[in-house]
Amino acid sequence: MSVILGIDIGGSGIKGAPVDTRTGQLTAERHRIPTPAGARPDDVKEVVAELVRHFGHEGPVGVTFPGVVQHGKTLSAANVDDAWIGLDADALFTQATGRDVYLVNDADAAGIAEAQFGAARDVPGVAFVLTFGTGIGSALIHNGVLVPNTELGHLRLKGDKHAESWASDRARERDDLNWKNWAKRVSTYLQHLEHLFSPELFVIGGGVSKRAEKWQPHLQTARTKVVPAALLNDSGIVGAAMMAAGRHHGELTPEPS
Ligand code: BGC
Repeated sequence: MSVILGIDIGGSGIKGAPVDTRTGQLTAERHRIPTPAGARPDDVKEVVAELVRHFGHEGPVGVTFPGVVQHGKTLSAANVDDAWIGLDADALFTQATGRDVYLVNDADAAGIAEAQFGAARDVPGVAFVLTFGTGIGSALIHNGVLVPNTELGHLRLKGDKHAESWASDRARERDDLNWKNWAKRVSTYLQHLEHLFSPELFVIGGGVSKRAEKWQPHLQTARTKVVPAALLNDSGIVGAAMMAAGRHHGELTPEPS
């Protein structure tokens, strides 16, 4: 099976598209439905089911979630309803869609897609794919292999600043920062990660990836190259489908189920 539906649950929109998992290309135009206010499980479940119906899709479905995912359960909920914490979301979506659903953290999905087809492809050593949106998501890739659920958006910076609350794209909008001043915050964050992990590369994903000319010239790291995500904001959809394809074929990626 090579075409799998990928669905990316985000803070403002839930997007889906069928993906050719051999090439990482979308095989139909993506469809976006606004995230229901409060992002409660039952409301989100309905949207996921509607996207499956929209594409008339048969076969497995890969779904991202903006929190920790382990063994099909959602274990954190920084920017969604608390009812997700400890929920068997895999079972919820499977029941709602009647399909085999495979769940993955949203940043991890972006990491899988960028490592396979995008800006982190063929990078030896440690590469980070970081998504800047409502929160900050992190994917740690080592020699092309994902280390799941790193949650490095929740690091503390400069004393006690919560990285995601201070340097996400939402913080840029909330604090009415120009791109240069936002890039200064992101630079502080990246330098902290450099100090901890000495990576080879930072890939910047999320909604800001399509506006790289605004922030890229202002970013400063000690020594690590920084590039925008090659798949732009589609990396979650593509990575979700890739992960579902791998798990459906029995590969233990990105975490055993
Ligand atoms: C969550 C992460 C997620 C990131 C981006 C954070 O608040 O804890 O799991 O990847 O937001 O959505």
